[in-house]
Parts: sequence; C-alpha cells; structure tokens
Amino acid sequence: MKALILAAGKGTRLKPLTNSTAKQVLPVANKPILFYVLDQIREAGITDIGIVVSPETNPWIKEVVGNGSKWEVEITYIIQPKPRGLAHAVKIAQHYLASSPFLMFLGDNLIKGGVKGFVEEFNTLNSDALILLKEVSDPRSFGVAEVDSSGKVVHLLEKPKKPKSNYAVVGVYLFTPEIHQAIAQIQPSWRGELEITDAIQKLLETGKEVRSHVLTGWWLDTANKHDLLEANRVLLDDYLKRDIKGTVDSQSQIVGQVEVRQRARIENSTIIGPASIAEDCRIHSSLVGPFTSIGANTILDNTSIKNSIILENCRIQKIKHISDSVIGRGTEVIKRERASKAVVLFVGNDTKVEI
Ligand code: TTP
Repeated sequence: MKALILAAGKGTRLKPLTNSTAKQVLPVANKPILFYVLDQIREAGITDIGIVVSPETNPWIKEVVGNGSKWEVEITYIIQPKPRGLAHAVKIAQHYLASSPFLMFLGDNLIKGGVKGFVEEFNTLNSDALILLKEVSDPRSFGVAEVDSSGKVVHLLEKPKKPKSNYAVVGVYLFTPEIHQAIAQIQPSWRGELEITDAIQKLLETGKEVRSHVLTGWWLDTANKHDLLEANRVLLDDYLKRDIKGTVDSQSQIVGQVEVRQRARIENSTIIGPASIAEDCRIHSSLVGPFTSIGANTILDNTSIKNSIILENCRIQKIKHISDSVIGRGTEVIKRERASKAVVLFVGNDTKVEI
C-alpha cells in the first residue's frame, strides 16, 4: 500500500500566510499540519509516500518535510502544475501509484485517532474504495454521501444545494487502482475541477463497491483562519502534556498543560494552559493563554494574548488583549507612546488588521 498526500492547491483562504508558505506546513500546537499527517500514515505502516505539490508549495514543503528520513519513510514529490482538483492530483500521480492500492490524505486535514484502523479495515474488505464520513449540521459546502444501513455508499454529490444526508466526506480515502479508470471517465465540474467525489460516484455507476466509515472523533479541515485556530485549540487540548524544558523565573506562574521548549525564558509572566511556547522565546511581563501557541524565537513583552497562534521570530510589545489572532513569521506589533493617536502600519499584501 502507498500513500498520497495532496498539498498543491492555492490556499487562498489563508492569505496572507500562504503568500510565503504552504498551508500544509503552517503550525498548529507548534507543529506543522503535515507532520501530524505523516505521523498517522507512518503509524499505519505505510512507508512509500507521494506528496503532490504545486510549483509554489514545492520548495516550502520540501524545506520542512525533506526526504522523509525523520519518519523513516521514502517520499516522492509529484508536481501538479495547476490545482485542477483532487481527482486531477491523482491523475498526475498515476505513474507513481502504478498498480498499488493507496491511502489518499488531504494535507490540510487532521483526524482524531489516526488511520491505522481504516487501512486494516480496507485490507480485509473486497471493495474498491473506503471513504470516511463525518456527520455535520450543514453539509452544503462538502462532498455529501448517502449510505445504506450496512455502510455501503449509494450516492455521492459535491457541494449539493439540497443535501440528502448529513454525512460530509472527510479528506481521507482508500482506493484500489480502479479509481484511475473512474477518473479517466469524468469531466471537470462547474468550478472547472476534476472532483474526487465525481470519480467515486463513477465507481458506483460502474458497479463497484464503495464502503464508508463514520468518524466519531474530531475532523479538522484547516481551510481558513477560524479553522486554524480551532485546530490549534483541539490539538493543544488533546495532545499537549505539561513539559517545562526552558527556564521559568520565580515571579512567573505556569498553570495546567503548558509546554515550554528548550531555551525559552518565562520572566514575570503567567502562562495558562493549554499553551505551547517554542524554543528560544522570551516571554516578559506577559499573560499567555489559554489555547495559544507561540513560535520559536518570538518575544512577548508586556502583552496579553489568548486563543491565538504566533509564528516564529515575532516581536509583540505592550499590546493588551490580543485574542483570536494569527500572526505570521517575523512580524512586529508594537505600541508606541506618542502624543498622536495615529496607527502606523507597514503590512504586506492581503493582510487583515482589526483595530
Ligand atoms: P482545498 O482546501 O480545496 O483548496 P486550496 O488548498 O487551494 O485552498 P483554497 O480553496 O483556500 O484556495 O484543497 C484541499 C487539499 O487538497 C489541500 O491540501 C490542497 C490539496 N489540493 C491539491 O493537491 N490539488 C488540487 O488541485 C486541489 C484543488 C487541492
């Protein structure tokens, strides 16, 4: 069995962060999203992994993931020149996948509990696909599946106006090579993409069996800022253990599940868990948390922050009550004492500032 991770795509909804990095390597709970995906694939025993990247995401993803030696896996990078849909990404990877069954994992999706059980289940089934579903209250923005009482999928539709069930299709799929014939028979959808849901529907129309598994744990699709903050909250809450490797002075207080990584310094500050402070940070006279991740080498001074993600090499000074924020690498946010009340900005493209 091989695995195929999809990490091309534009990441438009996460601009400006995705102007200079790939969304799949943005950190949640101070760890790139793709690392959770790779951990779960490795845990399922798969060591031959293809990553579909775009010409833009290729260098960003390679820089963070490398050749896979960290996971003791072999990684093959496959370039999708334009994001023409999930089924198009599989088509591009057909040469790599050859006649192997495969696990397909969207590189911006996270699921609780891993994929080992689904891979084992698929290996015992005689089906051409196994898809994961999650019950959601409004499925209109997802692929939606109708299933019978035995879990067999009877119909699939991408983003239906009138959904026939509440089962959204999660971004983790298992396929036999039959999917390639199905993809060869579909046309681009109204949005110009080759949809994987159309390809799975084609499997059904040609008499193939598609089974489903309904997820009971969380499923996170990190498409926009709100999703990223939710993923950060859920992962900090679920995975973080109290682990203080940096230094905490006697004027500081650490409450609950807090991680302070190597060489980070906490001075005259309170950190309320769950919260993660990465390597080489300096937190001075500040209040951090809950649900906050601070990236490596960032300085917080006289600042209070909760429910937020700050990336590495930032400097935040004298800002009270930062909340629900995501701040990109190398950013400075500083309150100056001046007579004028003017706000002075020097911000990049697609930035959103709320004052
Ligand atoms: P999406 O979230 O559907 O698309 P996107 O990443 O381009 O984001 P946006 O809509 O905000 O511009 O993609 C889901 C995952 O699949 C993501 O990891 C990127 C990947 N993908 C491909 O690899 N190739 C594609 O053609 C598409 C559409 C997505």
